[in-house]
Amino acid sequence: MKGLILSGGKGTRLLPLTYRRAKQLIPVANEPVLFRVIRAIRDAGITDIGIVIGDTGAEIREAVGDGSRWGVKITYIEQSAPAGLAHAVKESLHFLGDERFVMFLGDNVIQGGISPLIQQFANSNWNSQIVLKRVPNPQQFGVAELNGDGSIKRLVEKPKNPPSDLALVGIYMFDHHIREAVHAIRPSFRGELEITDAIQWLVEHGYAVHPYVHEGWWIDTGKMADMLSANDHVLEELVPRVEGTIDEASKIDPRVTVEKGAQIINSTVRGPTIIGENTQIVNSYIGPFTSIYHNVIVENSEIEHTIVLEHCRIINVGTRIQDSLIGRNAYITQSDRKPKSINLNLGDYSQIDLV
Ligand code: DAU
Repeated sequence: MKGLILSGGKGTRLLPLTYRRAKQLIPVANEPVLFRVIRAIRDAGITDIGIVIGDTGAEIREAVGDGSRWGVKITYIEQSAPAGLAHAVKESLHFLGDERFVMFLGDNVIQGGISPLIQQFANSNWNSQIVLKRVPNPQQFGVAELNGDGSIKRLVEKPKNPPSDLALVGIYMFDHHIREAVHAIRPSFRGELEITDAIQWLVEHGYAVHPYVHEGWWIDTGKMADMLSANDHVLEELVPRVEGTIDEASKIDPRVTVEKGAQIINSTVRGPTIIGENTQIVNSYIGPFTSIYHNVIVENSEIEHTIVLEHCRIINVGTRIQDSLIGRNAYITQSDRKPKSINLNLGDYSQIDLV
């Protein structure tokens, strides 16, 4: 089997973080979401992986390279326009050939591996397998309606009146019949060639599409709140390790990971939390569910339930920062100058909530 990861598209919903950056490269518990996806496919025994890229392709190529780091071979497929998931498959057919493949959306984070699913599909004569998950907000996803016997009745993309609460998770398995399907369908109301419509076409034409209902957690990291919630889940399951240094004056919870070259000085860190490579935490408090990425300095400040990206400086901030997502190279500080005022230098689409 081959693997296909979709990492094109625009990612406008994660502005400003994805204003210039591929959303699939934003780290969750200090590992880019796309890297987790590559690992999940590799762990299922698949080493021939295609990655569909778009406008942010150069950045993705640079971060992922040839895949040797994971023991896989990566082929990049440049999508001519972000015209939908089925369009991405259409433009990947030369890579896929007639082999069975698993397609994984590069911004999805799922609990557990996908090996059992791949195994099940490989040993079956199904033409496709899809993954479903019960959600409270099905109108934001592709939705499946099942028959009484558990087979698929129909699939519909982002319905206003969802026929069920079963959302399509971004993991799909296909055989070569998907070729006919992606050629047969027409663009949807949002102008995209939808994979949901291609699967509906398979169902209508009598092909066997098997629905698997996932019981663990699953997050489509499309919005900021989703990013934080994915971070919570992954931190909760992270096996802690300490590779950096912690001085004697610091108090560190056992569920804290301290990466290589990181230094914790006179600080309290409660887990689950991860402190990235070469980051310095000095005279500070880092609360649970926080991921601080590489080369950050936090001094005389308090942070909780937050993702901080690389090269940020957070210095002398007396008010606790929480429930936040802080982009690369941000500088946050507090001084006692008069008159007391807030001095902002924000990028496009920033959000600030002052109390
Ligand atoms: O996350 C699951 C949902 O993903 C499903 O429930 C929906 O049925 C499915 O259509 C999809 O919906 P989204 O609106 O969330 O898809 P999004 O545009 O965010 O794209 C998902 C991934 O695919 C993302 O990593 C970008 C990539 N992509 C997207 C498009 C539109 C491409 O590589 N090429 C594209 O043309």
